[in-house]
Amino acid sequence: MSEDIIYPVREDLAGLQPYGAPQLEVPIRLNVNENPYAPSQAIIDDIASSVAQAAATLNRYPDRDFPQLRASLADYLATESHVRVSPENIWAANGSNEVMTQILQAFGGPGRTVVSFAPTYSMYHEYARDTNTRWVQGQRDPDFHLDIAAVEETLRRERPSVLLLASPNNPTGTALPVDDQKRILDIAATTGPQINGRATSTIVVIDEAYGEFRRAGVPSALELLDTHPHLVVSRTMSKAFAMAGLRLGYMAAARAIIDAIMLVRLPYHLSDVTQATALAALRHSAELLGYVDSLREERDCLVSWLRENGFDAIDSDSNFVLFGQFADRDAIFHALLTHGVLIRVVGPNGWLRVSVGTPQETDAFKQALKEVTA
Ligand SMILES: Cc1ncc(COP(=O)(O)O)c(C=O)c1O
Repeated sequence: MSEDIIYPVREDLAGLQPYGAPQLEVPIRLNVNENPYAPSQAIIDDIASSVAQAAATLNRYPDRDFPQLRASLADYLATESHVRVSPENIWAANGSNEVMTQILQAFGGPGRTVVSFAPTYSMYHEYARDTNTRWVQGQRDPDFHLDIAAVEETLRRERPSVLLLASPNNPTGTALPVDDQKRILDIAATTGPQINGRATSTIVVIDEAYGEFRRAGVPSALELLDTHPHLVVSRTMSKAFAMAGLRLGYMAAARAIIDAIMLVRLPYHLSDVTQATALAALRHSAELLGYVDSLREERDCLVSWLRENGFDAIDSDSNFVLFGQFADRDAIFHALLTHGVLIRVVGPNGWLRVSVGTPQETDAFKQALKEVTA
């Protein structure tokens, strides 16, 4: 092959590195907020026989609209959040990353703007870049909460078609109180781009990737769907649901929003194998989510332990904790790695993020952190 060929890669992609946390084979992996508990043999067996059944018709394309899976996801949300949405108001894709990219494919693009508030999930910026949507990033407060006045000012100034807000937020773990969600939704009702001389709504995506870890008594944004037709609630089976390897994310939204997304989705994007695996996993949701309570407790104990040991730690509604503050966080990250503990360098300078693991993994992390900071 000739070395001289010049490929017409998009100028804005030239020289960039692909996104992704390091995937390293180390004993303690606490870097991508997975549920540390693997599926039981009963679940493995059910998935295996469901996939075998799907395999019998793999010569055919899968169901493009996957009504069975949508119904099953709607049932799950009704149990988990006590909010009943119709299967027609559910959409799914290969991870919530794909769901949110599809939202920007349908509502973003050249001439359109998407807004978010840092520090937040770093992929949001990539969805914008990949869909040629203008990216505007405001800042959270020093305590990592959202200043609603700043959100209002940004929405009115930028007139975005989409606002992306994670609650609980990654990497801070902070949740957006429901009253703030309502205020933002009310403002966003008229802050979208002007189309044919008329103000549109900004689509507000509340990304509840970590929603199941929220504290008892905290409602899901799903409760606001009925009254706010420009709201999208994004969820995933990758985190609390302990199915990161499956790649299944989904959203609940008004039918018109889902209709728009169906225009941009690739045909047959959810394979039969994915649909069969997800349906099998959903039959076992109680067991798969069985460790959520203990992970929450483990998280709160970890925050207390970090503070008792002289670190700053942010109260988390998620399954990870942002802690610091270090003059050289990269040095701490690498020192932990030499102890076989992989965490994540992410968020504002000086801070690190650790996922909540099994009690044994958390102990190994605490021990290693004590040694490397002694
Ligand atoms: C806030 C947030 N949203 C979405 C995702 C994407 O998850 P997935 O594509 O696995 O559903 C992540 C993954 O870490 C996340 O932290």
